[in-house]
Amino acid sequence: MTATPFCIPDYIRSIAPYIGGKPIDEVAREFGLDPARIVKLASNENPLGVPDSAKRAMAAAMADLGRYPDDAGFDLRKALSSKLGVDEDWVVLGAGSSDILITAALTFAGGGGRVIHSQYGFVVYGLAAQKIGARLTVVPATAGLGHDLDAMRAAIDDGHGKAALVYIANPSNPTGTFLTASEIEAFLERVPGETVVVLDEAYTEYLDDAQRYDAIAWVRRFPNLLVSRTFSKAYGLAGLRVGYGIGQPALTGLMNRVRAAFNVNALAQAAAVAALDDTAFLAESARVNRAGYDQLTKAFEAAGIEYVPSAGNFVLFKAGDDAEAGARVNLALLRRGVIVRPVANYGLPRWLRVSIGTEAENAAFLAALPDAMRTSGARAA
Ligand SMILES: Cc1ncc(COP(=O)(O)O)c(C=O)c1O
Repeated sequence: MTATPFCIPDYIRSIAPYIGGKPIDEVAREFGLDPARIVKLASNENPLGVPDSAKRAMAAAMADLGRYPDDAGFDLRKALSSKLGVDEDWVVLGAGSSDILITAALTFAGGGGRVIHSQYGFVVYGLAAQKIGARLTVVPATAGLGHDLDAMRAAIDDGHGKAALVYIANPSNPTGTFLTASEIEAFLERVPGETVVVLDEAYTEYLDDAQRYDAIAWVRRFPNLLVSRTFSKAYGLAGLRVGYGIGQPALTGLMNRVRAAFNVNALAQAAAVAALDDTAFLAESARVNRAGYDQLTKAFEAAGIEYVPSAGNFVLFKAGDDAEAGARVNLALLRRGVIVRPVANYGLPRWLRVSIGTEAENAAFLAALPDAMRTSGARAA
């Protein structure tokens, strides 16, 4: 890292930059490919794109863009409050749910608190803790790469005091692992009241009926629980950056003081209100996702490729047995115009994560994969 003359704390200097999915134009430039033929399955976006309802709402909101957005997000919080059955002051808005996750760290773990997340937990949890100089405990995952809630509960008290904040993702990214309602409830019952739990439900709209649970009932029951959700995935609004947290006003009120003013722009607010009502779009997103999951996992099974069963809109699959396999197969896929997500930064260098796309996008990935695995020398596990 380049030395600077500034008095920058070590915890800031040691932050590794967030690496997002490679943009299509960058891959086109790097590999001399036609952008129109590139398939991006790297950022767990909705392959259906932006719902028409949201496009219409944004067109109508354009006229007012000379003004600041509503800092309180009145319309969106009202829409969320009536959909979720909580008062409006139980909802806090964020520029994507990443903003909620980071604001939670700032609010509840700032000033030297301790943060806990699971091994293979979403990268933003660790980043959020690092940004505020919090101490971080990463709890080893289960053999199936999921959260070990017993070990996470045990880590809350490390002998020097209780952790300030625990992040749990359900489903988790990049693994796709899922915790049942009874596992989460049993965990919440055992967490001390002074430790805030953030239950990250970025992919909750993709759950099937058998997996669904009522997280809002838990928010009513547990004053230390904040549930975070997003419009980036099933609602198709990733580029707008809008998400929200649901918690009792003692939590959301503090987060509202800490978050940046005007953090959700006017187009995002208008689009989110419209998308929230667009149940047909949401149902179609879930249907396409289920079909795509079957398409990908059947092909993995036929080819003997190991994968982690996923409850999200992505699948983690094993690129090969050696520690370079993920990088090699990723490069070979990029050369063939398919962008997936390497996960070596999660400590999973043998694996790659593919987002579930349309049938045609999934087919393009599946067509490129055998050749990419063969020519890169990676063997199916
Ligand atoms: C588990 C999880 N939580 C939160 C997010 C944040 O998404 P956004 O900031 O777009 O809401 C993501 C994005 O990939 C995610 O995978």
